[in-house]
Amino acid sequence: MKNNSLRGRSIVIGITGGIACYKSLDLIEELRKNGANVHIIMTESAMHLAGIKDFEKASGNEVQTSLFHPKVDYADYIKKNKPIKHISLADIADLFLVCPATANTIGKIANGISDDLLTTSITATIAPVLICPAMNVKMWKNPITQENVSKLRKLNYHFVEPEYGELACGYKGIGRLAKLDKITERVGLLITQRNDLKGKKILVTSGATFEEIDPVRVITNRSSGKMGNAIAEQAYLRGADVLLLRGHNSTEPHYNINEEKFTTVNDLFNKIKKYLKNTDIIIHAAAVSDFEVNNKEDKKIKSRQELHLELAPTTKILENLKKLNKRIFLMGFKAEYNFSKDGLTNSAYNLLKSANADLIVANDVGKENAGFDVDTNEVFVVDKGKKVEHIRLSDKKVVADRLLDIIIKKIQ
Ligand SMILES: Cc1cc2nc3c(=O)[nH]c(=O)nc-3n(C[C@H](O)[C@H](O)[C@H](O)COP(=O)(O)O)c2cc1C
Repeated sequence: MKNNSLRGRSIVIGITGGIACYKSLDLIEELRKNGANVHIIMTESAMHLAGIKDFEKASGNEVQTSLFHPKVDYADYIKKNKPIKHISLADIADLFLVCPATANTIGKIANGISDDLLTTSITATIAPVLICPAMNVKMWKNPITQENVSKLRKLNYHFVEPEYGELACGYKGIGRLAKLDKITERVGLLITQRNDLKGKKILVTSGATFEEIDPVRVITNRSSGKMGNAIAEQAYLRGADVLLLRGHNSTEPHYNINEEKFTTVNDLFNKIKKYLKNTDIIIHAAAVSDFEVNNKEDKKIKSRQELHLELAPTTKILENLKKLNKRIFLMGFKAEYNFSKDGLTNSAYNLLKSANADLIVANDVGKENAGFDVDTNEVFVVDKGKKVEHIRLSDKKVVADRLLDIIIKKIQ
């Protein structure tokens, strides 16, 4: 296999205590042939099944086996700001590969257990993690293993599934390590994806606006910002230069993403205008109030009396963005409540036309587990030709990645 995307990239490979661990030697050779720098971490169990020397020779680097070094005085070490192994490995990785992955290590990762160098480094990394399980068929089919795999998938960990065949333990069934070319191909794809937004300036808006009634009370909506945050996070992980404009009370994003908080619709619009010229792609996922209060009070309004609010429509931010910068790629969002699929996509298409947007993401916030303040979403993405792509109910991280894939296809 020839894969230019691997040239100069660092791949950290965790070798765990599975009978297939010697097969990773060929994988390491293949990755290095394609120009990757390979760093190996072996678990204690792996060292019972294979020799460190073979992996040292194959990778050309010292094999790492433990979190702590017996001769290091860590109090002094940390004072001198010396590198800590699990953090350095987590930071240098363009990709983390666990191959072969035992049921044990999969279970530890799925449950945030960090009790050795491999699992601690994985907890500390923001690189994509690709897991290649290999085990006895009963271990693979064990509901706990399956639950751990499905939990990790939802969290955007990647898998190359084991295959059916004769197993080293004498059984026949699913559990054999996947073919090495399948693994190398997936490594290449993930590394390409990790950098596919490099050099792109992306502005993401997320969360709810709020409009004051008086200094204490506001009109707002139920948006948590989770969908927009997930998009900002995934774009950041894929190498983009991301600025997140986030609703004042929305959830915090992971990672060190540049951000500014907004309050009212006008505040959000002014902030967008400030950055729009210097933006390639804008993903406007914030839930913007349709109304502002005309008769808002400067002092707290007394209770126990009737109150009549006069509401005026706010600026339609989405419809102004292309007018302000013709060059940007514009993705907008349309939330509807209890709509049919056709109703939803028609409404999205109408918005796309009026905003001259490139894509509109439509979702039905009336559906269970989709929309506001949940970790999952189901969306329909409508383009200028009224072509509709359905992203099934998935974790918002997975939906975010799919949305970015669709944008990349359009801008290429
Ligand atoms: C000879 C032998 C072969 C093993 N092969 C596997 C295997 O293929 N897959 C697996 O999940 N566990 C296998 N195990 C069990 C693991 O080594 C054990 O669960 C261990 O705790 C894994 O530790 P680790 O995940 O830190 O490497 C094997 C154990 C032995 C003794």
